[in-house]
Amino acid sequence: MSGRVTLKTVPSIPQKLCFGPLELSPAVTLAPMAGVTDTVFRRFIRNLGGCGLIMTEFTSSHGILADDRRRKGGKKPHRRSSFNYLYFEPDEHPIVAQLFGSDPQVLADAARVVEDLGFDGVDMNFGCPVKKVVKCNGGSGLLRDLPLIEEILTAVRKAVSIPFTCKFRTGWDDDDIVCCEVGKIAEQVGLQGVALHGRTRAQGYSGTANWDWIAALKQSVSIPVVGNGDVFSPEDAVRMFEHTGCDGVMIGRAAASNPWIFRQIQQYVATGRYDEPTEADRYRMIKDYYELLVEKQDKISGEVSGKMKQFATYFTRGVRNGSQLRKAIYRAEGPEHVLETVDRFFEEQLVSAA
Ligand SMILES: Cc1cc2nc3c(=O)[nH]c(=O)nc-3n(C[C@H](O)[C@H](O)[C@H](O)COP(=O)(O)O)c2cc1C
Repeated sequence: MSGRVTLKTVPSIPQKLCFGPLELSPAVTLAPMAGVTDTVFRRFIRNLGGCGLIMTEFTSSHGILADDRRRKGGKKPHRRSSFNYLYFEPDEHPIVAQLFGSDPQVLADAARVVEDLGFDGVDMNFGCPVKKVVKCNGGSGLLRDLPLIEEILTAVRKAVSIPFTCKFRTGWDDDDIVCCEVGKIAEQVGLQGVALHGRTRAQGYSGTANWDWIAALKQSVSIPVVGNGDVFSPEDAVRMFEHTGCDGVMIGRAAASNPWIFRQIQQYVATGRYDEPTEADRYRMIKDYYELLVEKQDKISGEVSGKMKQFATYFTRGVRNGSQLRKAIYRAEGPEHVLETVDRFFEEQLVSAA
């Protein structure tokens, strides 16, 4: 990598994050992202280095129980099975499974399945803003029903002995901020940590994440607090630690377009500077990811060509003439053709730069 960014002072961040007995180092984690953080993307991030914890996409607790029943009945799981979301490889440890739902008993049973599958922890989603999920009282819909949150957390806590965390938004809207209350409930029930995305449900992804609420949550509880929202660079990660006093930082969208961000953060705190990826690094990254997708296509929930096109949107950011590559990938027919398109593009690009 080249194109160094240099700073005069060396910043510092916590070197580890502990969810009970689960020791994570470094204290920087990958956010769960539906449609993004499948086994292929998670391993890809793990292999690039610098990420202390990875998490599955959010997974339906009802779906898990239905699949578990099929499995116990000797039936094969469906292609779009919830178990696909829970598939992981040994080199993904430490890994946490994230669940969503609103029925305490169903969630407790699903958490037990997660524990049996060998996950290092389980996380509850109280942040998803998607209408379909909120309508069933799941995700951020639960932020309007704190007694139900308590019931859910209590049921799941009793069901499993692995570390248990939850992730939420600040509240339903600006008139109904509940993050500190949710954090206190989590602590009283015996969870080992919480993660807060500093936006309300009403905000969706608009505006900016309010890191003051992450700082307020940190002041309200003594279990570890992971801050999340709008960390797009190593400088942002350090600023979030400094501004909020949080114990860990979680990165979502930036990881999809810059999977090196975790490694860059480590380099930044070790040396005060970090390397930007070269054109050749980007070529290698896209090719490696696409090849992994093809190899593991039976382990992901979507279809490979669609996934390649989705990731073309993320991965071509920062690539010289990236929009040309993106369009060519969109036009390609089938995974082989996508791979050829990537090879041709970068070969021409690297030759023209030589
Ligand atoms: C495509 C996409 C899918 C997401 N899926 C989930 C999810 O499954 N579970 C969850 O808790 N949050 C989910 N989120 C929210 C992220 O985990 C994170 O809280 C949010 O993107 C803010 O962090 P960022 O600014 O670093 O991206 C998703 C976000 C995106 C962009």
